[in-house]
Amino acid sequence: MASSSRGQFSSRIGFIMAAAGSAVGLGNVWGFPTQTASNGGAAFLVMYLLMMVLLAFPMLVAELTIGRYGQSNPIASLKKIWVRNQALAIVFGSIAMLAASLILSFYAILAGWLIGFGAAPVMELVGLKGFAEWLETYGVARNLVLTVLFMGLTVYVVQKGVANGIEKWSTRLMPLLFVLFAVLIGYIFTQEGAIEGLEMYLIPDWSHVNAGLVVNAMGQAFFSLSLGVGAMMVYGSYLKKDINIVRTAGQVAVIDTGVALSAGLLILPAMFVAKHNGVQIFNEVGELISSGNLVFTVLPSLFDTMGPIGEVIGLAFFALMVIAALTSSIAMLEVPVACLHEELNIRREKAAKILGLAILILSVIIVVNFSSLFDLVATISTMYMQPLLGVVWAIVIGWIWHRNKQLEEIKQGNPDIEQGWFWKIWPWYVKFVCPIAVLTVFLYPQL
Ligand code: TRP
Repeated sequence: MASSSRGQFSSRIGFIMAAAGSAVGLGNVWGFPTQTASNGGAAFLVMYLLMMVLLAFPMLVAELTIGRYGQSNPIASLKKIWVRNQALAIVFGSIAMLAASLILSFYAILAGWLIGFGAAPVMELVGLKGFAEWLETYGVARNLVLTVLFMGLTVYVVQKGVANGIEKWSTRLMPLLFVLFAVLIGYIFTQEGAIEGLEMYLIPDWSHVNAGLVVNAMGQAFFSLSLGVGAMMVYGSYLKKDINIVRTAGQVAVIDTGVALSAGLLILPAMFVAKHNGVQIFNEVGELISSGNLVFTVLPSLFDTMGPIGEVIGLAFFALMVIAALTSSIAMLEVPVACLHEELNIRREKAAKILGLAILILSVIIVVNFSSLFDLVATISTMYMQPLLGVVWAIVIGWIWHRNKQLEEIKQGNPDIEQGWFWKIWPWYVKFVCPIAVLTVFLYPQL
């Protein structure tokens, strides 16, 4: 298929915003602070940064390069590289599609809660107190309604395609998120107790480092950069040939890490401020209670301390969180949509609707069996499928794809790459170090 008949990001900054939009999501603002708080603070932070630089960033370059070379959906792009083994390309492309769909099925439930928490203060303001309470209280009906709403939004944006949907939304709304974070961080440090949180965040206690922490840090890094499931391949396929992939990947990784670090800088101090104000955050033995709900206990109690302006800030915060989640969910849905649209020649709008509905059904099943399914689906898709698919892509790059072809692809938009340090390290690094490192981290706790 000629690249001109497919969507393309209209500008480099548009791509960076969209890819960063896919990367920045609940994983940064919710996952990272929660993991950091429950894994002892700074020790997790350090391990996470190491994983980002040593594993996630090289893998991001790998996925973007495969995608741009293929100029197509993950299945077709892999087929183009795996010339002699088309069946494997189809199998792993399809597994990636499934993984993206599974992630979306639980992600939409979480994002739905954020809609609830954003809408609740508004409902209260207009006098619908009962409704506001319903929105903030766990319940199957509420979860269903909000999940449907969020999935509807996702399908709506994906139907519009690359430049008009994904790029437009990401470019407009991502910068707002940064500003709001800055304001909230400024505020939290005027509060009693914040410094205690900062200490936990920045002063490492190495006794927390163990195999489990390393696995979590790796999973978090892969999740945060949206790796493994083909999302970055799809985005890479919409990337113009004159763009420097390595530099762009670096910028996306820096933005993503920056948002995660800022979220930690807000949430960990906010935890201790909340504790100072009498909210119970830790149990008697100092473990974080209800870590999954951290964001929902700590932040609203923080907004409450701000007086009337807190209502506005709370609304703005949750609204932006929904948007951050949306720029991620559209990237997840885009994976199977691109496959269906291009492989089976189904119109984009139709593919988005069909897949949106199928994934919604999965979400409904999870909502109804929440206690048994939610963690299971999240663990299988993010802790297992994402890193293991990453290993497959590393093997494809390192062992299947001819090195000169890679060089040719990566050279476009980066003509001097052969002379630089990156090309001296990256090819063998992805070939040997990445797969072995991921598998080691992964198997170690089982040994
Ligand atoms: N990176 C996203 C976040 O931090 C979540 C995510 C994981 C994702 N895998 C993905 C997004 C695949 C898009 C595609 O919230």
